[in-house]
Amino acid sequence: MIDASYAPRTAAWQALSQQATVLSGISIESLFDSDPGRFDSFSIDGPGLLLDFSRQRLDAQAVSSLLDLADRTGVARRIEQMFAGEPVNNTEDRPALHVALRRPADRSLPVEGSDVMPFVEAERARMRALADELEDGALRGYTGEPIADVVNIGIGGSDLGVVMAVRALSEYRNPDVGMHFVSNIDGVELAHVLERVAPATTLFVICSKSFTTLETLTNARVVRAWLAARGGDAAVAAQCVAVSTNTEAMDEFGIAPDRRFAIWDWVGGRFSVWSAVGLALALAIGWRNFEAMLAGGHSMDEHFRHTPFERNLPVMLALIGIWNRNFLNAGSHAVLPYDDHLSRLPAFLQQLEMESNGKSVRRNGEPVECPTCPVVWGESGSNAQHSFYQLLHQGTDPISIDFLLPAESGVGRQAQQDLAAANCLAQTLALAAGDQPGAQDSPHRHYPGSRPSSLLLFERLDPATLGRLIALYEHKTFVQGVIWDVNSFDQWGVELGKRLASGLEGAVSGESPDGEPTAIAGALDRLRGLRPRQTR
Ligand code: F6P
Repeated sequence: MIDASYAPRTAAWQALSQQATVLSGISIESLFDSDPGRFDSFSIDGPGLLLDFSRQRLDAQAVSSLLDLADRTGVARRIEQMFAGEPVNNTEDRPALHVALRRPADRSLPVEGSDVMPFVEAERARMRALADELEDGALRGYTGEPIADVVNIGIGGSDLGVVMAVRALSEYRNPDVGMHFVSNIDGVELAHVLERVAPATTLFVICSKSFTTLETLTNARVVRAWLAARGGDAAVAAQCVAVSTNTEAMDEFGIAPDRRFAIWDWVGGRFSVWSAVGLALALAIGWRNFEAMLAGGHSMDEHFRHTPFERNLPVMLALIGIWNRNFLNAGSHAVLPYDDHLSRLPAFLQQLEMESNGKSVRRNGEPVECPTCPVVWGESGSNAQHSFYQLLHQGTDPISIDFLLPAESGVGRQAQQDLAAANCLAQTLALAAGDQPGAQDSPHRHYPGSRPSSLLLFERLDPATLGRLIALYEHKTFVQGVIWDVNSFDQWGVELGKRLASGLEGAVSGESPDGEPTAIAGALDRLRGLRPRQTR
C-alpha cells in the first residue's frame, strides 16, 4: 500500500524541495530587505519564551509548506495520542507519558481506564517529604549527623537531566548541601567524589530505571562497600535511596523499602527528570523550586497541545529543524546558550534528540527515506566563540543553530550579562549578514553570511523557565520523530554495545577461551600488554 502520509511522499515535501532550491540562492539579508516586518512574521511569543527565527533561510511560502507537512503527517493526531496515554512507543508497546509528571494532581489522566495521577502524586509527596527533611536539617546519616552531601549515581537519562538542571538552577540551591554526580564506568568520578565526602553525612541516590545498568550498579556496589566498611548495614540503609521500576533488584541490593522511589515504564529515561529521577535535583533546590519547574513544563504542555501550529513553539522549532536538516542539508545542529548556567544543556539535548531520533528504521520497520536526527552539539557562549565559531562562520558544511539568551543576569552581574547578550546578537548578525568584501580584501577575511540560526530569548533562567525549555525541546523531538516516522521513545541501538562489553570483560584482563572477534583481536592483545604489570 502506498503510504501517502509518509513525509517524503507528500506534496508538501516536493514543494519544500523546490522552495529550498530557490531560497538557497537568496541571501538572508535580502529576505530582510524585502520585508521590513520580517521579525514580527518570523517570531513567536510562547509561554515565557520568544522564538525569533527571522534569520532562518525561510519565507512565508516555505513556512506554509512546513505547516502543511505537519498536517499531512498527522502531527496533531499523534500529539493527542501521546497526551491520551496511547502506546506511542510502538516497539515496546507503551505510552510515553512524561507529560503526566508535571501535570497538576487534580487533573486526572486516565490510561486504559485508570488514572495515573494518584501514582504520580504519591511519589511526588514522598520526594517532597525527603526534600523537606533535608532542607530542615532533619535528614540524618547513620551516626545521627545531618546530611551535608548528596551524590547521584546514574547515567544517561538517570544523570544528564539532573546534572544539567542542578547546574542551570545553581542560584536556587541549598547552600548547605554539596551536590555530586557519578556516572562513568571508569571509576574516576567516583574516586574523586569519595575523596571529598564524609561517610557519615552523605546520601547516595542510586538512580536507574532498569536497575541493571552496568555503570550505575558498578559504582553503587563500590559505594555500598565503602559505606558498609564504615557503618555496616545501618549506614547503607540510612544513606542509600534508590529510584527505579525494578523492585526485585532494589531488594537484592539492600535498599530499605522506605528508601525506594518509583518510576514507571511509561517514562522514558531521557524524559524523566520530572519524576523521582529528579530526586537529587529536588534535594538540591528544594521542593518549592522543583514544583515551579514542573509548573513551567506543564505550561509548555498546554501551549503545545492547544496552540495552532503556526504559533506553537515546539512545533515551529521542530519544523525549522526539519527544514534545515532535510532541505538545506544541515547534518549537525549546534545549541549555544549565552548563560553559563546552561553549559550542560547541549549534553542533555544530545541524549534527548539523538537517542530519540537517531534512527534509520520507520515505526513500521521499513527503512527511512530521508535523513533523520542531525548530530547535536554545543557549548555555552562566549567560550564557544573562542573555540569552534571559526567553522560556523567560514566552514564548508551547513550547520543549524539555536542561540539561547536570558536578558537578566542570574548572578547579579547585569553588565556582564549585557556583554554576553551583545556577543550573542553579534554572532547571529555576523552569521546571517556576513560582510561585503572590498575588492582589495583577502578571501580569507570574507564572511559569506546567510548562515541560519534561531534565537530563544527569555527574561531570566528560573525554575519555571527551565521547565519550559526542557518541555519545549522534548516536544520538538517528538514532533520531528512523527515527521520522520521513527519511534522517538525506544533506543534499541544502544543494546549491542552493552551486550558485547559484558562478553569482553574477561578478555581485557586475560585470554578469552573462545577466541576473540577479529576486528578487535589486535587491539585487545596490545591492551593486555599495556595493562599495569601487577594486574596481568
Ligand atoms: O543505554 C542507554 C540507556 O538505556 C538510556 O536510555 C538510559 O537513560 C540509560 O541507559 C540509563 O538507564 P537506567 O536508568 O535504566 O540505568
